[in-house]
Amino acid sequence: MKIAVLPGDGIGPEIVAQAVKVLKALSSDGMKIEMEEAPIGGAGYDVAGDPLPAATLKLAQDADAVLLGAVGGWKYDTLPRPMRPEQGLLRIRQGLNLFANLRPALLYPELADASTLKPEVVSGLDIMIVRELTGDIYFGQPRGIHINADGEREGFNTMRYSESEIRRIAHVAFGIAGKRNRRVCSVDKANVLETTELWRQIVIEVAKGYPDIELSHMYVDNAAMQLVRAPKQFDVIVTGNIFGDILSDEASMLTGSIGMLPSASLDSNNKGMYEPSHGSAPDIAGKNIANPLATILSVAMMMRYTFNDEATAQRIERAVKKVLANGSRTADIWTEGTKKVSCSEMGDAVVAAL
Ligand code: NAD
Ligand code: IPM
Ligand code: MN
Repeated sequence: MKIAVLPGDGIGPEIVAQAVKVLKALSSDGMKIEMEEAPIGGAGYDVAGDPLPAATLKLAQDADAVLLGAVGGWKYDTLPRPMRPEQGLLRIRQGLNLFANLRPALLYPELADASTLKPEVVSGLDIMIVRELTGDIYFGQPRGIHINADGEREGFNTMRYSESEIRRIAHVAFGIAGKRNRRVCSVDKANVLETTELWRQIVIEVAKGYPDIELSHMYVDNAAMQLVRAPKQFDVIVTGNIFGDILSDEASMLTGSIGMLPSASLDSNNKGMYEPSHGSAPDIAGKNIANPLATILSVAMMMRYTFNDEATAQRIERAVKKVLANGSRTADIWTEGTKKVSCSEMGDAVVAAL
């Protein structure tokens, strides 16, 4: 297994170091794992003047899977857009054709009290958000800021989806639902936006090939509300890039913290990039207090989706569960009566439980 390791910025290096400990532990148990590190985001800009240095993209292309921390930081926020850390992330997603982003919002029972929602609302929660990742308003042309006919500045972006882009992400969602509770809720804004009117039509067409899966549709504003009202009604949610970005951050709080939400970004051959759903958390960077579990759980997803090794995926997830059951908590999920641990102590605890 050749894994490209891209720590990135902010808490990225701290949380990735914990996931690397887990990979090293698996490696010393006999798994053949090779890791090589490269800079991305602000770190890429600092060393190579580019948030996605050519050598980093090449390393990622040549690897079987990519482990990424997070990118972004205050000091880069005023750079010209092409130089900003976030562009490195968007370009690597596009460059590797990682169109399917899976973000599982799963509540570990031990964390029912850590959520800001009532335990009875979230206990038993297990949602898979399937977010399209290489299209939509994120990539649509034209875009920019120009002077309009009235002589004032005007910003514009283009929301667009082709039929084939919608079709392939719908197939991913139905495929995943078939291995779960066989329900897909497609989230759109078909009442207002043509792009998502087409989205709904295509999803309905694709659904005909999956007669055993129940399909429903929901407008995104209602979905945002339902996620906090009664989140357990959802099994698989499939949606576009921007709605998926927003809804997955919202869903993360159902699980206790955004520090718990892993993700897999896959191409059509299940090659993938694995990263937590959260960002570089500049407000807590360098303090060794970030929650590394989303990153460690992303390694579990890597074993499951790219390396087809369900046993190892579950071994990592069981280790996380055991650590939580023993009462270890980073600050973001700490509650009265549990033991507060640092980022690196959490990593060590998972390795010990493994
Ligand atoms: P963020 O996810 O970085 O942080 C939001 C809040 O959640 C912060 O209070 C932060 O401390 C907390 N948080 C996030 N991850 C945590 C963890 N593992 N443990 C404990 N607390 C955690 O979002 P933001 O503040 O909006 O963005 C910060 C930077 O990250 C920006 O530059 C943004 O563009 C970038 N970003 C990158 C990614 C990515 O690399 N995938 C994702 C989102 C945001
Ligand atoms: C995410 C992030 C990224 C996104 C940013 C940093 C480009 O928020 O992975 O959720 O918007 O996709
Ligand atoms: Mn996001």
